[in-house]
Amino acid sequence: MAYEELIRMAEKNALDAIRLDKQGAARLAAAKYQRAAEILLTVCSLYPKSPQSRVYAEKAEAYLRRVKELQNLSLESATSGTSLPSLKKTGSPLKDRPNVRWEDIADLEDAKRAIREAIVYPVKRPDLFPLGWPRGILFFGPPGCGKTMLAAAVANEVDAHFFYVDSATIMSKWLGESEKNVAALFENARELSHEGKPAIIFIDEIDSLVGVRSHEVGGEVRARNQLLKEMDGLQDKGKNLYVYVIGATNKPWNLDEPFIRRFQRRIYIPPPDFRARLELFKIYCRNLKLSRDVDLEELARLTEGYTGSDIRDIAQEAQVRVVREYFERDGGDVRAITMNDFLELLRHRKPSVSRENVRRYEEWWEKFKAV
Ligand SMILES: Nc1ncnc2c1ncn2[C@@H]1O[C@H](COP(=O)(O)OP(=O)(O)OP(=O)(O)O)[C@@H](O)[C@H]1O
Ligand SMILES: [Mg+2]
Repeated sequence: MAYEELIRMAEKNALDAIRLDKQGAARLAAAKYQRAAEILLTVCSLYPKSPQSRVYAEKAEAYLRRVKELQNLSLESATSGTSLPSLKKTGSPLKDRPNVRWEDIADLEDAKRAIREAIVYPVKRPDLFPLGWPRGILFFGPPGCGKTMLAAAVANEVDAHFFYVDSATIMSKWLGESEKNVAALFENARELSHEGKPAIIFIDEIDSLVGVRSHEVGGEVRARNQLLKEMDGLQDKGKNLYVYVIGATNKPWNLDEPFIRRFQRRIYIPPPDFRARLELFKIYCRNLKLSRDVDLEELARLTEGYTGSDIRDIAQEAQVRVVREYFERDGGDVRAITMNDFLELLRHRKPSVSRENVRRYEEWWEKFKAV
């Protein structure tokens, strides 16, 4: 894999990590920091002479430190109330619960419903599912439309053991043989789910596990076959197994058919439509001071092709603008954000999903809807 692509992957993971960290999703954030660090370390070992290497190594170290901190946090909260009095925090909620809730996510009603149907209902009334129910759910769609965010909400909203993995974690040469990692993961999930609480394995960016662009780490094929085997096992072993695999990808066309077939529910996470964009503006402007002339409906109309992540950025930039002015002026009040602020920001920012792009997802969807 090219140098640039590795750096881009590391950056993306680091950005995701920081965002999830802010949202309080400690476990997800730790996994993303870990991946960013691993990629940066890989870059350093592949390109030791690069002038950037030192910077990358320092960054990687900082991310790994944060991983440790986050792990300690969740250890503390997991043991609170059961162990040493000094660790006891009276009534403190689990700290690694992300604070992303269903209602923080604009639209995506189909996805939310599919999760409820597949995970919540069968646990309550397995007798109503004589033919079984799907154990594999695939989220696919363009970048920045809420797939990873949805996973954070699932971890929070569904009472389940939640495993977050991405393919780098599975493939990581620091963890040993990848197919054994897969087997251990499922073994662990099965054990836990015997106690009656479902176990959800969320595999983010699952396309890279298929190994179309296999890189230096190796072992993709064995890991992938093990994953297929484990997923078959979930179907066979009958009714009382509450282990689920949720996969997410923005490159569904990189998945091959045997893989796709195991995800009986395939859910398109599309770019937001008008209603969803309006909801997004409402969500992200909730805590901002807006001038009277700001027309959120008009903004929603103007932002066709913009993703959830674009709209969040726009709201954030608008706020940065008024805050910057405030500090430059030093004094007075922070002024309200005006419609003009938004319009100017929009002028400088292109929609990140093109029509053509959307068509590609829809074509894939058409093709695999009825497999
Ligand atoms: N439907 C939505 N509702 C609210 N916020 C959203 C929504 N979609 C995206 N966002 C915002 O954009 C950010 C990025 O979204 P997320 O990471 O979930 O995208 P993704 O679909 O996983 O993208 P990728 O395919 O690149 O991994 C979220 O953290 C959130 O702030
Ligand atoms: Mg994602």
